[in-house]
Amino acid sequence: MYQHLYKRFLSARPDIQHFACHSHHYWPDVTREAMLEYWDDTAQMADDKWNYIFSKKMPQTQALVANALNIKSPERVVFAPNTHELLVRIHSSFAAHKKVKILTTDSEFYSFERQSQRWLQSDLVEIVRVPTAPFDTFEQRFAKAAHEQSFDWIFVSQVFFNSGFAIKNLKTFVDTLPTQPLITVDGYHGFFAIPTDLSELEHKVFYLSGSYKYAQGGEGACFAVVPDGNFEPIYTGWFAEFGDLHQRKEGHVGYAQNGQQFAGATMDMSPMYRLNASLQLFKDEGLSVEQIHEYVKQCQLMFLQKLQALNHPLLNLDNLMQHQFLPDKRSTKQFDKADGELDLNKVEVNELGLHGHFLTFKLEPKDVQSLAEFLSNQGIKTDYRGDRLRFGFAIYHNPLSYDLSCLE
Ligand SMILES: Cc1ncc(COP(=O)(O)O)c(C=O)c1O
Repeated sequence: MYQHLYKRFLSARPDIQHFACHSHHYWPDVTREAMLEYWDDTAQMADDKWNYIFSKKMPQTQALVANALNIKSPERVVFAPNTHELLVRIHSSFAAHKKVKILTTDSEFYSFERQSQRWLQSDLVEIVRVPTAPFDTFEQRFAKAAHEQSFDWIFVSQVFFNSGFAIKNLKTFVDTLPTQPLITVDGYHGFFAIPTDLSELEHKVFYLSGSYKYAQGGEGACFAVVPDGNFEPIYTGWFAEFGDLHQRKEGHVGYAQNGQQFAGATMDMSPMYRLNASLQLFKDEGLSVEQIHEYVKQCQLMFLQKLQALNHPLLNLDNLMQHQFLPDKRSTKQFDKADGELDLNKVEVNELGLHGHFLTFKLEPKDVQSLAEFLSNQGIKTDYRGDRLRFGFAIYHNPLSYDLSCLE
């Protein structure tokens, strides 16, 4: 249904069934023009482009991100090439010699996981990790742990990268946590996939995400939504001072106070142009996150129905994490086989639980690897880590054309 927005990627990879969209999405065609626009702007304005970017392009992009998250203060959105840089900057906001006590989970993405391991080994932090499984009690167990001790920093994903399990309602979840620690939500698998309303959270949590996945602008345009607070991160770049230049005084390191105090230094802005183009496209098409989410759920259900019919010894519902996806819970009559298209207007009200845009199968690591390699050789691109094989879904899929016959 939306394939026409992705002509270039789809025609460049004609025989591929791309199920790795949760890792990196195809880019819509408009992002190619955005790359050229960046080049042309640079040619026309040279050094003056920075003024244009900071006064026009960045505020536009902040507004598009803010719109998707229902944030009232777009200037809270601060960009960086990756989320790692932002989370290190957040950590550096704590007093220099403080041993930071962190509450987190056993399922955070490597950017935080690896970095926090090193902080731990260097005696800079203490960490309590709550296991995400069993999922149905995770939110209660996490909140309980948060109240049992006094923490400085809570770091938790919105959708967990190794299962697809999603926090049902971020606001309700955050309300169950103590107010004193600094809270960071890794929203990389949430942003532009799961409908997310930060209107009541923008003042109190850091929300991290980026455009490599569901926002479809590719690598290099990550962001944090910065809450209220008098932050002066020690790991700081000169862009962090832009809002404070007028107050510059000898011996004083100034910081902007509106979120931009987490900015870094000179970076390639073409990723931001792509993100801008991609989000503007969805706005122009009238395609909301809610609609994208509905479409993707239908793709997931169609996929599971096809899979169920195969009776595969490994890829089956028993090995699927997150069983609310059992396809017999709803009909798929909205798939109109006559025109071969999925009509969103016929999609029924959601009966399913909230879930990320990928399905995760838990298998023996050796089976995961051999299955992923087999599928890849058959043109089915997935992605795997350890004992998890993940299939991602996107609006550039036509679920009626899923072909899993190589698994028969
Ligand atoms: C949950 C999550 N957070 C963050 C990232 C990316 O991190 P970074 O921007 O530091 O490379 C990913 C990428 O796969 C992810 O899955």
